Amino acid sequence: MLSPVPSVPAPGWGLRGFPPPRPPLTPSRGAAAAAGGACGPRSRRQLRGAAPGAPTGAAPTHACPGRPRPSAARRSRTHFARTFPRAHTRTHAARPPEAHPLGPPGLAARRSASLPFPCAMASPGSGFWPFGADEGSAAAESPGTARAWCQAAQKLTGGLGNKLCALLYGDAEKPVETGAKAAPGAAEPRPVCTCDKKPCGCQKADVNYAFLHSTDLLPACNGEITTMSFLQDVVDILLQYVVKSFDRSTKVIDFHYPNELLQEYNWELADQPQTLEEILLNCRTTLKYAIKTGHPRYFNQLSTGLDMVGLAADWLTSAANTNMFTYEIAPVFVLLEYVTLRKMREMVGWPGGCGDGIFSPGGAISNMYAMLIARFKMFPEVKEKGMAAIPRLVAFTSEHSHFSVKKGAAALGIGTDSVILIRCDERGKMIPSDLERRILEAKQKGFVPFLVSATAGTTVYGAFDPLIAIADICKKYKIWMHVDGAWGGGLLMSRKHKWKLNGVERANSVTWNPHKMMGVPLQCSALLVREEGLMQSCNQMHASYLFQQDKHYDLSYDTGDKALQCGRHVDVFKLWLMWRAKGTTGFEAQIDKCLELAEYLYNKIKNREGYEMVFDGKPQHTNVCFWYIPPSLRSMEDNEERMSRLMKVAPVIKARMMEYGTTMVSYQPLGDKVNFFRMVISNPAATHQDIDFLIDEIERLGQDL
Ligand SMILES: Cc1ncc(COP(=O)(O)O)c(C=O)c1O
Repeated sequence: MLSPVPSVPAPGWGLRGFPPPRPPLTPSRGAAAAAGGACGPRSRRQLRGAAPGAPTGAAPTHACPGRPRPSAARRSRTHFARTFPRAHTRTHAARPPEAHPLGPPGLAARRSASLPFPCAMASPGSGFWPFGADEGSAAAESPGTARAWCQAAQKLTGGLGNKLCALLYGDAEKPVETGAKAAPGAAEPRPVCTCDKKPCGCQKADVNYAFLHSTDLLPACNGEITTMSFLQDVVDILLQYVVKSFDRSTKVIDFHYPNELLQEYNWELADQPQTLEEILLNCRTTLKYAIKTGHPRYFNQLSTGLDMVGLAADWLTSAANTNMFTYEIAPVFVLLEYVTLRKMREMVGWPGGCGDGIFSPGGAISNMYAMLIARFKMFPEVKEKGMAAIPRLVAFTSEHSHFSVKKGAAALGIGTDSVILIRCDERGKMIPSDLERRILEAKQKGFVPFLVSATAGTTVYGAFDPLIAIADICKKYKIWMHVDGAWGGGLLMSRKHKWKLNGVERANSVTWNPHKMMGVPLQCSALLVREEGLMQSCNQMHASYLFQQDKHYDLSYDTGDKALQCGRHVDVFKLWLMWRAKGTTGFEAQIDKCLELAEYLYNKIKNREGYEMVFDGKPQHTNVCFWYIPPSLRSMEDNEERMSRLMKVAPVIKARMMEYGTTMVSYQPLGDKVNFFRMVISNPAATHQDIDFLIDEIERLGQDL
């Protein structure tokens, strides 16, 4: 058994054990709703729109105030029967129940009977969650027919279900059949289940995964139904996780020490295959211990939140499973990358969105791309001849900049010693006069300054370097200006906050990570370059097996050769689909809300007893940096002993947070400042109450230190 509350690293002073445990995290659902928090998980009945306890057929109320229930017409539009009106007949002809590897009919009942929930509730492993199903109407679908499966798939998995159903009936890519073929009303949605047995198991035949393996899934002969069932069960597991992620009554993290997790499960890879039952269990176990990064009380990283459209787009991307190197194999994605990068460049302020760019595997790599291209611009011969053929280069960035600038220099053979760190003011912004001084100094030594990497939104303080002044210096000394907006780039979406990046339009390149402030699922980072064609010349290798010059379409859409990678993941679709779903104004509202919450936190703690701000003044981004001072340190003189004790406060509170699983926030030392909390807010699910909760929790967990 895992120990419930493992010990924390002893701070060596003042730690008198754990404070009394919080009251249980799980309030009654009603209490949570009454408290005005976001909606907790709803039963399947609630998800279908029926109020808990309401009699069948009662007018549905939605559990989430203000969120309308989809209209009946809308629900029926998605109904499988409309899309695939011939499915029913073909199912029986194609697949008698005994001919496919489903369990015998009795199995369904046996399995369902053992379920702790009636079929109106999602249960672990029940594998079915009928969103929008109408209850209690006539004309049941016979149990286990593929049509019932497809109804489920249609409702549950949308495109995926459609695709599988289409596959099953050979109707892939066909439009919805019109009234000319089917009499009006003939294909009206019919209810799935009318039986009065609860749990019923009518909607889905049971697959006995204990006897099935991955080889029974497609492309196995007759593997369609097993595949659909398996994927539905996976989706069911994912949906449960998604719903839980937003439920404040669940933990952010079910923390266990590495050795405990290693001992508790067998994670080893074996020669023999596992059954699909075990595979599903692997999925559940993995998610059980995953950090709920979408949880409204997860503040640990710059990338937080879980966007539903982004998630759907990620699933689609995985299903499409293609590679970004050519139009030939990623026609839509290549076009979307073109459209999206152009839009991002427009927002940076480059006229007409001109220029170039690429989605890369993260901000660190985007920064390295910038360095690579800047070097190539100044010394194109470096591509063939290497560093030995060019003079000693130096780059400049602030002492608060991200470590990836140094990493890039190391990887490109420039060397970390050639990255000169420029001093910052007390708010963490680069001091332009120091930049100019250091450039002159480097030139005097015979070094060649080739790049200044300014930061728009530093990692810890959230500071924005003075881009206009930096641009002036870069222009004066003819140095490539890069702006690392991995964290702060998102503010370009906000009319209220984008002034913080004034001057970014003068940059030669910009890193912008939609997977941070914009909440796009990881990973999604863009490197934007003002000069068109430079990336291509810098990186192209003309591999003739991919980039044939005699193809029958416009070769400018074969964009892969400008990347450093060969194969490249499709990162654009999540961003594009979310942008379509929200519009620019939706992103703006989301970002403005996070900044407003940060201001709320700042206002709340700036004069509160027991808090000290790391720097004065309102934060520019959502980074709020502070020390919590436990009562025992409050009256102490500001000397070395106090510092060494203060240093241990944040790590102990953080360890306790993780062990209770209530919230997560990051801490670090910086320069001569001992460990302090860095609160960042990028999760649109967070509310004022979550900020209040964080403060209460820090005080509860730290008051005895
Ligand atoms: C300012 C800044 N630049 C670059 C990066 C690196 O981004 P990624 O983690 O996507 O590689 C970070 C990450 O936190 C960052 O804060």
